[in-house]
Amino acid sequence: MRKIAIVGAGRVGESTAQFLAESDLAREIALLDVREGAAAGAALDIQETAPLFGFDARLTGDTDPSVIAGAQLVIITAGLPRKPGMSRSDVLDKNVEILDSILVDVMREAPDSRILVVSNPVDVLTYRAWRKTGWDRTRVFGQAGVLDASRMAAFIALETGLSTRDIHTLVLGGHGDAMVPMLRYSGINGLPLHHFMSQEAIDRIVERTRHGGAEILALKQTSSAYDAPAAAIKSMVEAIVVDRRRVLPTVALLDGEFGAHDVAMGVPCILGAGGMEQVIELDLNSEEQEAFDTSLAGVRADIARLR
Ligand code: 2OP
Repeated sequence: MRKIAIVGAGRVGESTAQFLAESDLAREIALLDVREGAAAGAALDIQETAPLFGFDARLTGDTDPSVIAGAQLVIITAGLPRKPGMSRSDVLDKNVEILDSILVDVMREAPDSRILVVSNPVDVLTYRAWRKTGWDRTRVFGQAGVLDASRMAAFIALETGLSTRDIHTLVLGGHGDAMVPMLRYSGINGLPLHHFMSQEAIDRIVERTRHGGAEILALKQTSSAYDAPAAAIKSMVEAIVVDRRRVLPTVALLDGEFGAHDVAMGVPCILGAGGMEQVIELDLNSEEQEAFDTSLAGVRADIARLR
């Protein structure tokens, strides 16, 4: 890809820029941040790792929105971070305000781009970005489930002592405490989790996954997670840039799939050169559908606050 823009040079934005640069996924990586020097400093710091990692990407950073001009993909990480004890919804009002002003810049400077929303609450902000831009849903989507599924897989690896390479997990729904880890679609190289773990251990991992973000925040106190979120973003970007057509949980606009309309939630999607190319519908059993609907109700309640 010629140019990827990252809005927000906080910890997630900066780590994302580093991972994208190291992976040679774009010729140019532009960081935009309203804080004087933050984006320029992050860009220069990462640029100076180029000889060590052997990448050729050029990094730029500025407070001037024109730095993102012509980007083909815009990753939005800017927003008020959560403080310990806060839910992702608690930062909604402020982050909607921030998002709205970013979208004006994106529509002007990068009108042909795709938008990957990362800021929280990500389901609601993805919905907002789709509404405000009026762009096709293939061009506006969000990151949540790749991170949540990675957390779940990491916990399973720690519990079983088995390789992360063989562990597959799927987490759907909104990126909140009511997210839906899909045990029926998770396993170890095709074998069910029950083969390796007790029900008690599985239940513990499901709960830990649901609170994965809060666990990190409670430990770090002054920062949310950023390494795993940035790695998750990199996986999604790579699927698009390399046109891998990977099936990844993605925050997508639903248009009847899973019985939901006019809402954005984490569902399995095909990610490739066409962006969010397709939502993959699953046949949920009644228990899964109930959990999905509970999560959906939470996202809808937050979306209702926007209107
Ligand atoms: C997380 O889950 C901050 O939502 C982010 O860590």
